[in-house]
Amino acid sequence: MSKKKIFSGIQPSGLLTLGNYIGAMKQFVELQDEGDCIFCVVDLHAITVPQEPELLRQNVRSLAAMFLAAGIDPQKATLMVQSHVKEHAELGWLMQCTAYMGELERMTQFKDKSEGKAAVNASLFTYPALMAADILLYDATHVPVGDDQKQHLELTRDLAQRFNGRFGETFTIPEPIIPKVGGRIMSLDDPSKKMSKSNPNEGSFISLLDEPKKIVRKVKRAVTDSENQIRFDEQEKPAISNLLTIYALASNQTIEQLESQYDGIGYGAFKSDVADAVVSLLEPMQQRYQEWIESDELDRVLLAGAEKAAEYAEQKMIEVKQRMGLIPRETLK
Ligand code: TYM
Repeated sequence: MSKKKIFSGIQPSGLLTLGNYIGAMKQFVELQDEGDCIFCVVDLHAITVPQEPELLRQNVRSLAAMFLAAGIDPQKATLMVQSHVKEHAELGWLMQCTAYMGELERMTQFKDKSEGKAAVNASLFTYPALMAADILLYDATHVPVGDDQKQHLELTRDLAQRFNGRFGETFTIPEPIIPKVGGRIMSLDDPSKKMSKSNPNEGSFISLLDEPKKIVRKVKRAVTDSENQIRFDEQEKPAISNLLTIYALASNQTIEQLESQYDGIGYGAFKSDVADAVVSLLEPMQQRYQEWIESDELDRVLLAGAEKAAEYAEQKMIEVKQRMGLIPRETLK
C-alpha cells in the first residue's frame, strides 16, 4: 500500500485545551512515523470570528510552538501556517463554488457558533468549504481529528466526490481518523458538554499551559456523581468516565487497568491521581513550549514548512484549474 498522506489543522484562537491535545495533537505525534504529515495552524479559519490583530499574531506563534512542544518533529512532519500558502484561500473559493447552501446549513458547528449572534460573518458559514480545500489541496488520504469534526469531514468527502464526478478524478477522498477513546473529551463542570476553550467557566477546561496548582484545583472541583464507585459507563457515569479517559490517555494505561486498580478506592484519591497524571504529561511539554516560543528557530521551521507545502499546493492548483476550465497563468506561452 502506498504511504499515508496525513493533513490536520488546529485554530489559533487562544488557549489549547487538554481536549485538543488528546483528540488531535496526541494522534499527530504518533502518526508522524506512519506517513507524510502536514500540520497546519489554520489562521484563516480563526478570522471567521473577530480577532484582535496583536493577539492573533501571538496565538499563531504560540500554537506553532505548542505543536513542536507536543512532539511534532520538523524533520519528520511539515508544520505550516495556513495563510503562508495562498492556495488554501484559492481552492477554498473553488470549493465554495462546489458546495451547496443546503449542505452548509446542515453543519451543526455553524448552528452552534452562530446561535444568538447579531452579526455573523459570511465566512463562518462557508468555513467548511475552506476546510475541505485544506485537505484536498494535498491529496490527504487520512485526517486525524476529534469527534466534533466528523461532519466537516463527511462534507469534504462529498465535495471531492462531486468535483471528481463532474470534472474527472482530481482529488483523493480522505478518511477521518477519530480516536475510539478520547475523541470527545468533556467539560469538567458538565459532562454533557464538550471541553472547549470558549467556555466562559475556566474551571470547565484544562489549558495546556495551566500551571500544576491550577490543574490540581480544576480536577478536584470536577463534578462526579453520588455513587462512590470508579467504573467506565458513559450513560450512567459520564463524569467519572471522562476522568478515566483523561487519566488513561495521560498515563498510557487502559481504562480496564485503571478500573481494576481503583476498585474500592474513593473519588478523592482517584482525582488526585488523575491530576498528577495530567501534571506529569503537561509539565515537560510546558518547558519545551517556553524554549520554542523564545527561540529564533520557530520562524525557520515555519518558513521551511510553508515552502515545502507550497511546492505541492501550487502544482495541485494548476491541475484543478485545468480540470475546471480556468486557464492557469503558468500555462500561458
Ligand atoms: P479546532 O481548532 O476547534 O480543534 C482542533 C482539534 O481538536 C479537536 N478537539 C477535541 N477533541 C477531543 N475532545 C475535545 N473536547 C476537543 N475539542 C477540540 C478537534 O476535533 C480538532 O481535531 N475545523 C477545525 C480546524 C481545521 C481542520 C482543517 C482540521 C481547519 N482545517 C483540516 C482538520 C483538517 C477546528 O476548528 O478545529
